[in-house]
Amino acid sequence: MSRVKNFLSIYDFSRNEICDILLRSAALKTERGKENFCLKGKKIGLIFEKSSTRTRVSFEVGIVELGGHPIFMSSRDLQLGRGEPVKDTARVLNRYLDGVVIRTFEQERIETFARYFEKPVINGLTDLYHPAQILADIFTVYEIKNKGKGADMPDNSVIETINGLKVVYFGDANNMANSWVSLQAVLGFELVLAMPEGFNINAAVREESEKNGGKFFISNDKIAAAKNADVITTDVFISMGQDEEKEKINKLKPFIIDDNTVKSAKEDVLFLHCLPVHRNEEVTDGVFERFSQVVFEEAGNRLHVQKAIMEKVFK
Ligand code: CP
Ligand code: NVA
Repeated sequence: MSRVKNFLSIYDFSRNEICDILLRSAALKTERGKENFCLKGKKIGLIFEKSSTRTRVSFEVGIVELGGHPIFMSSRDLQLGRGEPVKDTARVLNRYLDGVVIRTFEQERIETFARYFEKPVINGLTDLYHPAQILADIFTVYEIKNKGKGADMPDNSVIETINGLKVVYFGDANNMANSWVSLQAVLGFELVLAMPEGFNINAAVREESEKNGGKFFISNDKIAAAKNADVITTDVFISMGQDEEKEKINKLKPFIIDDNTVKSAKEDVLFLHCLPVHRNEEVTDGVFERFSQVVFEEAGNRLHVQKAIMEKVFK
């Protein structure tokens, strides 16, 4: 079993470590351009078995800005894509690289890689979790809620900001929903998942949340769920690798975030979306454009937050 620091899910960080990462993200964002070559000389692989715009580019740029050398590998080009076992790929790359970011399918695949690779591994999205994204999301909320309070925020400002929030996620029980569940378990805020009857959170995700003291609610009533929300969020109805499940869209359609959903929430509600968005499927074009400044800030924050994560994991 590898004893290095990995970031395969939110549970790899304690509450204090997450608070540190969010405070550090704020500093890295303010100080962008200031020399910080903490990954100098490190060769970091990026193994992607699914498409990506934000995750790939923000990690690559982040590695370059921290003085490291990124090496992008699509599984289409690797022998991995032709069936070479993950555990063999890991044992080979271990001899060349100092760390990897992986985007793949089953969580078990990244866990197997991490077991055979003796250096740190970061999850760049699996079918189960998208932990780097969820930290960028909560950082965006933290930042907006503290706007105008100055750069030197006290250590307790993260928990103080996040503890009292009501977050409502609408839509599919996918890797983003699971990531909110895991974040709730570690940070503690009110989390409601608004989804159709018959949809439920994966049993392993529920179990991990319970083990970590998490608590979340599932509602089949979109408007009631949105009541007094501080944050409303959604994700695509069909995730990568689920193209066969198109009939799911009809069941999810009523859970679109529209004007009535926003009206039910608090007046200063924030809307988040990890992107890419399917306009008029999970969110109306009108609501999306109204909150687009927040959503693109959220996308931009991937860079700063992932630099803070990499400082903890790859340094
Ligand atoms: N949000 C996100 O992970 O985007 P990409 O799929 O473009 O990386
Ligand atoms: N749930 C989506 C997230 C994309 C960033 C997917 O897995 O495709």
